[in-house]
Amino acid sequence: MNDRATFPADLEQAAFWMPFTANRQFKKSPRMLARAEGMYYWTPEGRKVLDGTSGLWCVNAGHCRPKIVEAIQRQAAEMDFAPTFQMGHPVAFEFAERLAEIAPKGVSRVFYTNSGSESADTALKIALAYHRARGEAGRFRMIGRERGYHGVNCGGMSVGGIVGNRKTFATAMLPGTDHIRHTHDTRNLFSRGLPAHGAEFADDLERLVALHDASTIAAVIVEPVAGSTGVLLPPQGYLQRLREICTKHGILLIFDEVITGFGRLGKPFGADYFGVKPDMITCAKGITNGTIPMGAVFVSDAIYETFMKGPEGMELLHGYTYSGHPVACAAGIGTLDTYKEEGLLTRAGELAAHWEQAVHALKGLPNVIDIRAIGLMAGIELAPREGAPGKRAFEAFTTAFERGYLIRVTGDIIAMSPPLIVEKAQIDELVGALADILKKIP
Ligand SMILES: Cc1ncc(COP(=O)(O)O)c(C=O)c1O
Repeated sequence: MNDRATFPADLEQAAFWMPFTANRQFKKSPRMLARAEGMYYWTPEGRKVLDGTSGLWCVNAGHCRPKIVEAIQRQAAEMDFAPTFQMGHPVAFEFAERLAEIAPKGVSRVFYTNSGSESADTALKIALAYHRARGEAGRFRMIGRERGYHGVNCGGMSVGGIVGNRKTFATAMLPGTDHIRHTHDTRNLFSRGLPAHGAEFADDLERLVALHDASTIAAVIVEPVAGSTGVLLPPQGYLQRLREICTKHGILLIFDEVITGFGRLGKPFGADYFGVKPDMITCAKGITNGTIPMGAVFVSDAIYETFMKGPEGMELLHGYTYSGHPVACAAGIGTLDTYKEEGLLTRAGELAAHWEQAVHALKGLPNVIDIRAIGLMAGIELAPREGAPGKRAFEAFTTAFERGYLIRVTGDIIAMSPPLIVEKAQIDELVGALADILKKIP
């Protein structure tokens, strides 16, 4: 237990306005975490909790890994901050080289951000500026996908496809955004491997090209696997087709790999897993194993070189005070060292068959209406309770926590994504506990 374990005394009056949380409900009935190591959290009371979600899809190497902790401590003591506007520091350059080594070939120029949301907005701005630099300033439209999540900033929210995140903020939307349809299809329920049906959903982009004209469209952004709306797998051939249509019309393709990046699918990036090369990749989370806030946009050589051929001076008027923060970069280097030494960027591939088998064994349990698994991520969809959508899954989540398991829910879908260090026995334990819970939840 640490010395803040019992803080705050009066939670209902607490100053902390919690993000994406039912604050009043939480503060009446809190779920607190106080310590973490490897595959586990501990509550303030000292109860052990198996982490079935890598925190929030980010702690890919498990918690409090020594190389990462040491790198952070060393860097914080040596140089706590240095600007990267018209100044530089070696750690930011070194980390970018290391990232470029694992990035898909030719998509390896690195622009630093501090989060997945900032990565999305940065990529959209780069797309706009790129077309302008090429003399096609008319390409201003951004295309997202229904049920997509690209964070909460104005750009990412505009191309995102989650109604709850959008409806309140209609006036903050970028003008000229549109969406292709999502890829969830009931023909594919309980599919193993990539779903067989639905490559043609990519053709929805042709519909938008016909509607708006390609000359007005700057970029399409999709998650290779939609994570936040319940682990929606791309149908076989879908991403390839999307790539072909983008290329045909001169539209940039952006993969949002905030979840699929850094080994979640068993390859460094989803682009590697699916064999499809986007023009930009956005990432965050696993880039520092969740330790220090950071994100990045990987940009193709062609885009980067377009900027570098322009007039001398600042090529892109964009950046954050903390872009390339030295402590975050040091954490990132420690993270990549850990991933490399332990083979974690490919370990999900070794465990994927066991994982898929384990979660698909939940088929047939009460209210389970679909199961989707890929790499080391899974979505288990429950039938909503009559008149109370989301309640059934939320009860599964709170019961799991009481029993010592951290899972996640989005609506009535349970999502799991354990750290990539998970052992087969821990997968069996986690899924076994969930099976037991699902049998008992009405
Ligand atoms: C695909 C995707 N993009 C963007 C984000 C936003 O990242 P952040 O919360 O770091 O801003 C997330 C977060 O879960 C995500 O899953």
